[in-house]
This record gives sequence, C-alpha cells and structure tokens, in this order.
Amino acid sequence: MSESGRLMISLTLFTSFVVCVNAQFNYKEALTKSIIFLEAQRSGKLPPKHRPPWRGDSALEDGKTVGVDLVGGYYDAGDNVKYGFPMAFTVTTLAWAAYFYKAELTSAGEMKNVLDGIKWGTDYFLKASTFRNRLFVQVGDPVSDHECWMRPENMKSSRKVLEINTNRPGTEIAAETAAAMAASSIVFRDVDKTYSRSLLNAAKKLFQFANDYRGTFDGECPFYCSYSGYHDELLWGATWLYIATKRPIYLKYIQDESTAVIVSEFSWDLKFAGAQVLLSQLYWEGQKEFQTFRQQADGYICSVLPESPYHQAFITPGGLVHLRDGANAQYVTSTAFLFSVYSDLLARYRMQVTCGDKHFTSVQLMHFAKRQMDYLLGNNPIKRSIMVGFGRNPPRQAHHRGASVPVLAPNEEVNCGMSFVYWYNTNKPNPNELTGAILGGPDRQDRFVDSRVNSSYTEPCTYVNSVAIGVLAKLAIHA
Ligand SMILES: *[C@@H]1O[C@H](CO)[C@@H](O)[C@H](O)[C@H]1NC(C)=O
Repeated sequence: MSESGRLMISLTLFTSFVVCVNAQFNYKEALTKSIIFLEAQRSGKLPPKHRPPWRGDSALEDGKTVGVDLVGGYYDAGDNVKYGFPMAFTVTTLAWAAYFYKAELTSAGEMKNVLDGIKWGTDYFLKASTFRNRLFVQVGDPVSDHECWMRPENMKSSRKVLEINTNRPGTEIAAETAAAMAASSIVFRDVDKTYSRSLLNAAKKLFQFANDYRGTFDGECPFYCSYSGYHDELLWGATWLYIATKRPIYLKYIQDESTAVIVSEFSWDLKFAGAQVLLSQLYWEGQKEFQTFRQQADGYICSVLPESPYHQAFITPGGLVHLRDGANAQYVTSTAFLFSVYSDLLARYRMQVTCGDKHFTSVQLMHFAKRQMDYLLGNNPIKRSIMVGFGRNPPRQAHHRGASVPVLAPNEEVNCGMSFVYWYNTNKPNPNELTGAILGGPDRQDRFVDSRVNSSYTEPCTYVNSVAIGVLAKLAIHA
C-alpha cells in the first residue's frame, strides 16, 4: 500500500500546534455518516425527522416487567439487546470526542448531533440508575433474540431486565457508567448546567457503588464478558470524575489504588490506555504527580507502532491493526483515536515519544492514525470501503436485523423460523442502507467477505463508530 500523503505542521496563533495532514477522502462525509449510524442504533421513541428514515419506534415497554421506565438507549450491534456495558463505553468515548475535538466538531457542524447522541445514552442511564447501589444493565434476552431475525420495530422476543446491586455487584459496568456520566457532564456544562449537574451526581453515586461493592458481573456473558477485570474501569471512572470535579478522593484513587500497566489495546473491555492518555494531558497541563501515566501512555504508543522496537500489536500485510477476529474495526478506530489525541498533545507541548533508541513525533503518530482510518475508508488491498454507504464498493450485507429486514406492513405477522429464510440466508443486499456503519472488517490476511452470515466481517457495533468520531472530526478539519 502506498501512502503518499505528505505531512506538515502548521501553527495556529494564540492557541497551540495543530498537526495537518493531506486529505485523501471526504472525511467530513465520513464523519456525518458515522453519526447517522449511531442514530440507527437508537431504541425507544424516536424524535421527528429521525435519521435514517427506515427506523421507527421500538421497545416502548422496556422495563415494564420490573416497574421501571427503561425505554431508550442503544442497541449495541446487529441484534436487538440493550447491553449496558458497551453502551456506556460508547457514550464515554463519544463524550471524549466532544470534549477534546469540540472546535473541530463545531466547525464541521456536527456538535449538535454529537450532543444529541450522548444525551440519547445519558437520558437512559439516568433512568437506569435512579436507585442507589442498583443499576439496570441489560434489557432483552440474547437467547430469545437470536432465535429470531427481526427488526426491533416488530420484535416479539423477551425483554428481560438484568440489574446489578449490592448482592450481585458489577464493578466494571458501574464504573464504566460512572465514566460515561462524568465525561458527559463535562460536555454539557456549557450547554445545560442543570442537566450536567444531574449527570455528575449520578456519576459520583455510580463510582461509589462500583468501588464499595467490588465484583465482576457475568450476566452479559458470553457477549460482553469482562476479561480484563475491573481495575481498568475503576481507574478510567476515577479519571473522568477527577477531570469533572478535581476532588481529592478521585485523585487519591488514581494515585494510591491504580495499577500501572502497558497495553496495546483500547476497547470496551480494556481502558487503561485511555486513562493514561487523559492523565498525560493533565500531567502536561501541570500535574506533575501524573508523570508515570505519561510514561505508560508512551508505552502504549511504543507497543502499537510497527516501527517501534517494542511493538506488540499485529498489523496485517496491508497495514491494518488486527487484534482479533470479530468487530476488529473497533481496535482500528480506537487506535486511530488515541493516536490522534496523543499526537495533538505532543504537538501542543512540543514533545516526542521515545521507544528504545527510536523517537516518534506528533506528525508520525497522526500519520499512523490517518493510515488506519484511510484503510477503513478504502485505501486497502481489497480496494473497497468498509463503511456502509461511503466511498468505493462499500459493503451491502451488514449483519444487522434492522437493515436487512424491510419495513413491514402494520400488523404483519412474521414467524421467527421464516425470518431467517426471508432475510438472513438470502445473499441479497440489505433493503435498508445502514449508512455510516463501520463493519467488523478484514481478517489477518486483509480478506473481507461481504456476507451477512459471516458476522465477524460484517457486523457493526456502536463503539466502533463512537471512537471514530473524534479522529474523523480532526481529519475533516485539518486534512
Ligand atoms: C462464511 O460463513 C459460512 C457459513 O457459516 C461458512 O461456511 C464460510 O466458511 C464463511 N466464510 C468465511 C470466509 O469465513
């Protein structure tokens, strides 16, 4: 793969250094479409003029079985279950994009859409967390859901509700939801003070619940099992709460109780690298006690970059970060996002990353981030876009119930068995375009199969897109 984009640094007066890169794609279009995909994942009562047009209201009785209103929130991927854990990570990362790339998102005209996307999640989390030391963490039953290939608007599957509480704690989910609420409270501070305050209050209570009642919740297994334990979520939650409040109790957690590790992954399960990058920013802003986190963030960069002597992350022959099959694109967009943020911080504070005897500049980091996004957008050995409805020869068979089942006539009854015959095993393009969805993507040999039944290639996930939004905003404005 040839990458000819020349890089340059430009200075903007008064503020800071901004890394500029040459444009190869219409990143603004990719950004807009990425946000539209998140709108396609909305559950509940949709607002007027909702995008995309083929989506309608769904799951309007969620929570009824437990006497709580749990209408709203997001479906995680191609099915119709609302999993709290990845939903919270989606919201935290969306809020991070809004916080760090506020100027870029505003210039691109997308800030309002991003705020609405965050609020769609935080409104739901407020409802799910009204009782102290209790959090509703899932609506829907994956077993019942997977027996039917039905759009959410017409589903009849079980809407079972799962919760965590003092008897059955879930530190990962509670701390991640705390992170989502704290990060969002920062973003809403200038927009709606009262709302921001209620998010912050919820965040504090959730963090305390997470920390006081420690335990891993296995109720979202095998779909969202935490493999990495809860120390990363506690650090991540404490970091967002510290940024939001500057209170000593969160500082104390970060300094005394956090774990020092070097990882090469940032994902819904593993958040150390995200916390390290956030704390590096505070370090450079003057909080010298966070120096070790800057070293760990450098370690993350060194363990990903292929030219680094310490690199760990697998890179395909075509240049794609590949950590595992199944929604691998999440690791691609998360790498691109962290590299983009870290690149901007290095430029702002005139720093470099040192990996053994090699030095890497801000420009080199942004170059790598752009290469990852360009691969997904079509600069790759298979010469096709992995984003639905964008660029050259994009995929047409996203593994997604809502996109692959046509809008049905009112009162049309469908039998679950036949739903697979009609709409799953057909090898026909989806009737509804799942605009902006970045699918699971190529395997370790850069192969991609645009087939609905091969979900590791074609399933979308909210958190693939949420972490892409910041770096796409950066590229839309500065490339
Ligand atoms: C796609 O899925 C089908 C059916 O499960 C399977 O037979 C085939 O091997 C898969 N193809 C690839 C490339 O994974």
